Amino acid sequence: MRVDIRPAIYSDCPKLAKIKLLARGENAEENSARFESELRYITAFLDERQSVFVQLIDRVPMAYCAVRESTIRPFVGWAYVKDLYVLPKWESKGFGKKLLMHTLRTMRGKGYMNAFLDCAEDNQRARKFYEKFGFEKRETAGSSGCGYVTYTIDF
Ligand SMILES: CC(C)(COP(=O)(O)OP(=O)(O)OC[C@H]1O[C@@H](n2cnc3c(N)ncnc32)[C@H](O)[C@@H]1OP(=O)(O)O)[C@@H](O)C(=O)NCCC(=O)NCCS
Repeated sequence: MRVDIRPAIYSDCPKLAKIKLLARGENAEENSARFESELRYITAFLDERQSVFVQLIDRVPMAYCAVRESTIRPFVGWAYVKDLYVLPKWESKGFGKKLLMHTLRTMRGKGYMNAFLDCAEDNQRARKFYEKFGFEKRETAGSSGCGYVTYTIDF
């Protein structure tokens, strides 16, 4: 089994939108409004030259991580991890950790020293994952507000 991680390109975007919807347990039909909306969202990352990393198994995308530079106080200039999604079939096998490590290492190489993210308060699985990874819960309100918790990490 060959595992690669590389920067995403435009032709990856439909696959990444699908990964996100499947990882969220949502309808991933290509003509649906949700699919179109996620496709626009992910494409905008590339338009704005933000960082998106795609993980592939045997050359097939199965996870991605999207990061942008934050303009949100008190995290201005930090790396803001917006999306981290692993296809359900590949969950709990260490791929999410590997992809996030790669992403943060790359961001450190670009000069970032801290990262943060918002996670749905009731997403216990992801919260455990981030806590085990080394993220710390931040009591200050983050960017997404009610129903979300903010986690930070220093590199
Ligand atoms: C959350 C998610 C990204 C984690 O990726 P993953 O590939 O399943 O996680 P990994 O297998 O890399 O787990 C890494 C570590 O976290 C731990 N972990 C993962 N889920 C856990 C859980 N529910 N409880 C305790 N520990 C957990 C693993 O045991 C592992 O620990 P180790 O490093 O000591 O072996 C992935 O499950 C996912 O895409 N979930 C659905 C979408 C989602 O919620 N995304 C986050 C939005 S904020």
